[in-house]
This record gives sequence, C-alpha cells and structure tokens, in this order.
Amino acid sequence: MSIATINTQPIEGQKPGTSGLRKKTKVFMGPHYLENFVQAIFNGIGGVDGKTLVLGGDGRYFNDRAAQVILRMAAANGAARIITGQGALLSTPAASHLIRKRGTDGGIIMSASHNPGGPEEDFGVKFNTPNGGPAPEEVTERIFRETEILANYRILEARDVDLDTIGTTQLGEMAVEVVDPVAEYRLLMAALFDFEAIRALFASGFTMRFDAMHAVTGPYAKAILESDLGARPGTVLNGTPLPDFGGGHPDPNPVWAKALVDLVMGGDAPDFAAASDGDGDRNMILGRGIYVTPSDSLAVLAANAHLAPGYAAGLKGVARSMPTSRAVDRVAEKLGIEAFETPTGWKFFGNLLDAGRATLCGEESAGTGSDHVREKDGLWAVLLWLNILAVKRKGVAELLKAHWQEYGRDYYSRHDYEAVDADAAKALMEELKSSASGLPGRSFAGLEVTAIDEFNYDDPIDRSHSSAQGLRIFFKAGSRAVLRLSGTGTVGATLRIYMEKLERDPASQSQDAQAALADVIKAVQEIVKLKAHTERSEPDVKT
Ligand code: G1P
Ligand code: ZN
Repeated sequence: MSIATINTQPIEGQKPGTSGLRKKTKVFMGPHYLENFVQAIFNGIGGVDGKTLVLGGDGRYFNDRAAQVILRMAAANGAARIITGQGALLSTPAASHLIRKRGTDGGIIMSASHNPGGPEEDFGVKFNTPNGGPAPEEVTERIFRETEILANYRILEARDVDLDTIGTTQLGEMAVEVVDPVAEYRLLMAALFDFEAIRALFASGFTMRFDAMHAVTGPYAKAILESDLGARPGTVLNGTPLPDFGGGHPDPNPVWAKALVDLVMGGDAPDFAAASDGDGDRNMILGRGIYVTPSDSLAVLAANAHLAPGYAAGLKGVARSMPTSRAVDRVAEKLGIEAFETPTGWKFFGNLLDAGRATLCGEESAGTGSDHVREKDGLWAVLLWLNILAVKRKGVAELLKAHWQEYGRDYYSRHDYEAVDADAAKALMEELKSSASGLPGRSFAGLEVTAIDEFNYDDPIDRSHSSAQGLRIFFKAGSRAVLRLSGTGTVGATLRIYMEKLERDPASQSQDAQAALADVIKAVQEIVKLKAHTERSEPDVKT
C-alpha cells in the first residue's frame, strides 16, 4: 500500500454553513470535491498525525463510498485510529457521544441531516471537535481558508475496508475499529432515564408510534423502544435506513411527516408519537390529537426534566436559539436559572454546555438536547418525554394544556419560502435593515411596530462575536417576528420567517396557531413587501 499525493486546485464554495458543508450529492461526487474538503479539514485542525477520529454518517446515498475515501485519506495523513459504526452508520448524537466517550480528537459526520438523499439530492460533511460538538466558527473558518489554498491531498492506494464486520482491522498503519453503532448510545440513554418506569408505562397498555423516516434512527429506536422498553413490535415505523430515505424528506415536521400527524389526529391515534430526521438529531413530538411545537416541547422538558434520574439534581440553565419562542425563558425564570439566547445552529450551545452554564438547549427547528452530548438528540428528547409521561401518567395534550395555563401559550409558526432567487432574498433583508429606523410607531395589519433590530451575539464564555444573525421585528402587544436566510439550503435562498404571540388567558389558548398569528403574518408580509421581492405569497413549508 502506498501513499499518493494528488495535485489539486482550490474548489470554490467549500464554505461550511450552519452545519458543515452541504451540497448536491453530484457535486460531492465530482472530481476531488470530497477529497479537497476532507484534506482541508485535516489541515485546518493541524493535521491528524497520530490522532483518533470517529467517522459515521446517516446512511444516505454515497455514505459508503465517501467513508472509504475518508478512511484512506485519514490513513495517508497519519491518523492512528478511526472508530466507525458498522456500515459506516452513526446517528449524529451517537457520533457525538462516541467522540466524547472514547476521548478522541474529534470526528467526521457524513450527513445532510433532514435534506433528502440520493444521486439527485443532498450530501454533507462536517467536523466535530473533541468535545463532541460541531466545530465552532473559528475552526470552520480555518477549514474554509484551507479549501482556498489547497494544492494537494494525500490518499492511500488500498482496497475497501470491510465496514460490515464488527472488530478492528488495519488500513496501512491505521487501525479501523468497527463498532455497533447503537451499543454505547443505548447505555447512555439507560443511564439518563428511568427505563423501569417507562417499561411499566408500556406494560400498562400505553401505545406509541415512532417514525424513523427510513433514516438512521431506525436501529436505535427498535433496540431501545421495542427491545429495552417493551413497546409493542411495530411501534417503530419506517425503521430500515435507506440511501434515499424511501424517496421522502427525512424531516420530522407536519409537512414531511404528515402521515404521522394524520394518525394522531384520527380515530385510531396512539397515546404518543414521535419522529426523527435523517441523522437522528431532530425530533417531532405528538400526542393524541395534538402537535407539540419544538419551542413548547423545550419548555415542557425544562419544567419537568427533574423527573428523569439524569436530571434529578435540576438544571443549571437553559439555552435556545434566537428564533425559538420565548416559552422556555418563563420556565427558567420560575426555576430561578439562567436562560441564554444564541444564534441559530447547535454549535453556539457548545460553550455553554462545556462551561456548565446550560443543561438543556433547544431550537424551533425540532432540535432539543442536553449536556449528555454536544449535538441535539432526537431519540433522547423522545425518551425524556416518555420518562415524564411515565411519572405523571397524563396524556400529552393534558400536560401541554396544564403547562400553558401555568406559563402562558406562545402561538408559534415558521414559514419557509424555499428556492427563492438569492439576490431577491438578500435585497429583501437589506431593505428591511435599512428601513428599520423608520418603522417603529407605524402600524401594519393593525399591529404597531415597537422596534426592529439585527441580532448579534457575544458568546459569554469565549467572548467571540457573531454578527448579522437575523432581523427581529417587535410589535406592541408583545408579538415578535424574525427573518433570516437559511445557512443549510442547497438551492437559491430559503427565507425563514418565524412568528410568535404570547397568550396568557387560558380561555384563548386553544386556537389554531395560523389563525392566532394571522395578523402577525400579514404585518410581516406587508413590512417586507414579500410578494414584490419574492413573487410568492404562500410559504412552501409552515411548521
Ligand atoms: C437549520 C435550522 C437550525 C439548525 C440547522 C441544522 O438551519 O434552522 O435551527 O440548527 O438547520 O439542523 P438553517 O437552514 O436555518 O440555517
Ligand atoms: Zn439532523
């Protein structure tokens, strides 16, 4: 086996976004594309000589081929060991856990998360640091700079490594350790939650459906929910990971997991339902007749986490991304703990978790997690809900309504306008920014604007500064709208508009969210001249 040094040239646009580098699969499969980026990661982190890395992905199309390339490159760059899941599979939270548990130098995760997979769809690669979390901006910047000056990459000339058999083999000088992707994660979950209580809940006839969306969580959910916790066989739907996720978007929201939503709203609804995304870090929570918004889920989990053994000592603090509703802030206030507001993207929670300032974190985009790993964690959120339900012995709807009565309800919705012309989307944002000072005091759709600002963030731990993280419009009665452009899309621009309105009166808390937010929606559309800029009046996705 010999090491080849292949001459290459910088490839434009290899800039990691909200969560690693995401591109069309065909782009990743193009000449040198993956290799350049992987070499840039290695260079950007100061080389991998003698290092141990975790490698895994969500099983999407090209996962297996990309894994072989990354292994050969790691070997050629002097890595000592790669730990990978069988079949090169690892859910993102399981990868984060392995990175931490094994004290490694970080890991490479192959995933485009909730984006569809297949030769015509998306692929992605991201680097996680030794704390198990997504590389912070300072690291992704270094990686990006390497992509701009790269002249060659190193790769071992070797045959494919057998990744289907558990055990350790050699690739040149490097050890390749293939592990059961579920084993360590399963132990971690058993340590955090009261499995006994959840088993008793299922034994009492409690019914559940978990939609793995043909993505990576299938094997995890089957092992934990059905084998360990005694949920009925068949609880896990679409449990076999497929390279194209069965042709769907593995995104657990009311649009892409509509069948599950229809199930809980119908006559034959289970007591509890949930779904996870492509790489297993997102979650959607449903109860009989009810959809729990991720913002509400975070608030309910924060208020009740102490019921699970892993959190019995209470929470140190909570954190949410800026566009996430402020529901969890009021829980934190009552608990007398800190609440942080961070930019969008899980990487911004890492410092707070490492410093022990936050225990639970969440994003409105179906991401919830805790300090057990450094990624959001779909199945973890589902298990925490189950633990709470097992202790409270209340239905999801009952629990949520009681929560709203106590804390108020934040009507919440996100509207996505996808594949908008990138220049038009930019112009819309720029115009709002430049007109911001003239808008307070004026009314739109009957709502008076009180302030408009751009969200900037100073990390309280390392003092790093992140600017231009979204525009916020505040209205008189306390409603809020946030606008930002997606950093994960692969076609044109995706404009996200987040809207929320607090309702404290229990008698008015059972409206449909879109209806309750109708005036905020209308006001934003008028303020930003949405139709004129985007030629759209209806979003592609409403969550
Ligand atoms: C989206 C979500 C964000 C999440 C990220 C990765 O990013 O909005 O909350 O952290 O995916 O899952 P965006 O496309 O908005 O930049
Ligand atoms: Zn994901």
